[in-house]
Amino acid sequence: MSPAPLVRLPVVIQGGMGVGVSSWQLANAVARTGQLGVVSGTALDVVVARRLQDGDPGGHVQRALADFPLPDVARRVVDAYLRPEGRDGEPYRPVPRLGLRPDQHRDELSVVGNFVEVWLAKEGHTGLVGINFLEKIQMATPAAAYGAMLAGIDVVLMGAGIPREIPHLLDELAEHRPGTVTVDVAGGESGHVTLDPTTLAPRDALPPLRRPTFLAIVSSHVLAQYLNREDSTRPDGFVVEGPVAGGHNAPPRGKLVLDETGQPVYGPRDDANLEALASIGLPFWLAGGYGEPEMVKKALESGAAGVQVGTLFALSRESGLLDPLREELLLALRAGTLEVRTEASASPTGFPFKVAQLPGTLSDDAEYERRPRLCDLGYLRQPYARANGQVGYRCPAEPVDVFIRKGGDPDGTAGAKCLCNALTSDVGLGQHRKDGYVEEPMVTLGADLAGARRLDSEHWLHGGNTEGWTATEAVAWLLREVAVAPTDPNPVASGV
Ligand SMILES: Cc1cc2nc3c(=O)[nH]c(=O)nc-3n(C[C@H](O)[C@H](O)[C@H](O)COP(=O)(O)O)c2cc1C
Repeated sequence: MSPAPLVRLPVVIQGGMGVGVSSWQLANAVARTGQLGVVSGTALDVVVARRLQDGDPGGHVQRALADFPLPDVARRVVDAYLRPEGRDGEPYRPVPRLGLRPDQHRDELSVVGNFVEVWLAKEGHTGLVGINFLEKIQMATPAAAYGAMLAGIDVVLMGAGIPREIPHLLDELAEHRPGTVTVDVAGGESGHVTLDPTTLAPRDALPPLRRPTFLAIVSSHVLAQYLNREDSTRPDGFVVEGPVAGGHNAPPRGKLVLDETGQPVYGPRDDANLEALASIGLPFWLAGGYGEPEMVKKALESGAAGVQVGTLFALSRESGLLDPLREELLLALRAGTLEVRTEASASPTGFPFKVAQLPGTLSDDAEYERRPRLCDLGYLRQPYARANGQVGYRCPAEPVDVFIRKGGDPDGTAGAKCLCNALTSDVGLGQHRKDGYVEEPMVTLGADLAGARRLDSEHWLHGGNTEGWTATEAVAWLLREVAVAPTDPNPVASGV
C-alpha cells in the first residue's frame, strides 16, 4: 500500500526530540505555521502514565481520550493510572518494561500514549504532524506506530539505526494486520515483537487508517542507497543528519578516535554526499547545524526539500524542557558559556550523544556519581541470549555487577549514564524515589549554537522578552531568506 502523498512538502521539519522535548504543544505550534511539527515518540507510555498520575494537568490526556476509537482500552489505562488529586509526593507507579514477551497492558498503554500525543499535536488545525521513533528502541515500535496512526499521524520519522522494516510495518498496520519488527538478541537468534490490532478490539471496531509517509533519518548516502534498493525497505524520503545534530549521532566512520578533550573526531568521510543522495530521486531534508535562514537557503539550493532543525525548537517556549532548565540554557547561551560536548560513552546505546554542560545536571560526572545506579525504565536495554536459552535484558548503565553477571562487557559501563531517567526528568516527569532520591536532568542539544544565539539576539532587538522565542517566531526566522510564506494556509494531507 502506498502512503498518502503529502500535498506539499514542508521546508522546515521541527525535529523529533525525546523524551517529550518535542511536546505536543511544540508540534502543534509548528504545524499551524504550515511546516511539519513532530512529536517525540519515545517513551510515551511512561509519559502518559505519569501525566495521569500527576492528575492530568489541564485535562489534556482525557480530552484526547474522549476521541479515542477504542473506549475500553482508554478506560483500562485511565483506571490504572489516573490520580485526580496527583501523587502527593509518592513515587510514580512502574509501567511494564519493553520485552519480547507479549504483554497486553504494555501494548495498550503505548497505543494510548502515542494516540494522545499525536491527537493533541493535531488538535485545532489541519497542518501536518509527524512522530519520531528510534530504531534502537525496536521493541516499542509496533504498538507506538499503531497508536500514532489511530490519531491520524501524517509522517513517521525514524533514525538511530537502519529502519529497514518500517515501510512494511506501516503498510501492515494501516490494514489492521499484525505488524512485526525483528529484534536483535546479542549472542542469539533474533526475536520478534508484533502488534496484532485485533487484540485491542474486534476487527470491525477498528477505524479505517491512512498509511503515513515514512522518512528515514540517515547519516550517509550509502545507507540511503541501501534502503532505496528494495520496495519493502524504501522510505518516502530521507532526513540526512550530520554530526553536530543534537541527541544521538552516528559514530564516525572507521576506527573511533577521540580528540584531546575526549570527544569523537569526525572528518570529511562523515559528510553525506549530497549529489549521490539527490540522484536517488527521493526528497531529502538536511539536519544538524541548519538552524539559520542562510542555511535553509543553502539546503534548498543543494537540492534538498528543506531542513530538519532541533536545537532552535528545543530552546523555544513551547519546548517540553522544564522552564528552569530552558532559562538556564538561554542565560548560558547569552553569556557565551554554553558548551555542548559529544560524549562517546554516555549513551547506553554505544552511539555518541550530545550533552549540554549545565552545572547541577548529570552532565557533571560528580553529580552523576551521587545517583544510585539502577535501571527501572529500561528503554535502552539490549536483549541477550542467556545460557539457559531464554532471553535476558541488560543495560550498561545498570549496576555494574548486575551487568557483568549478565555477560555484559565491563568496558561498556564506564561513563554510561541512565538516559531514560535523566531525559524523563528534563520534562518534569522524573521519578521521586522512596529513599528520597529525585532523578536529576541531563540535557542534550546540538553543538552548533550559532542559530540559537542569533535568533535570541534578534528577538531581543525586536522587543522580545526574557523568555526567549516562540516556535512560530523560529519558523518565520528560518524561512526569512526563502520564498515560502510561513503562514501559508494550513496544508492538508490528502485523505484527511
Ligand atoms: C533535545 C534534543 C533531543 C533530540 N532527540 C532526538 C530523538 O529522540 N530522535 C531523533 O531522531 N533525533 C533527536 N534529536 C535530533 C533532532 O531531531 C534534529 O535532527 C537535530 O537536533 C538537528 O540538528 P540541530 O540541533 O543542529 O538543529 C534531538 C535533538 C535535540 C536538540
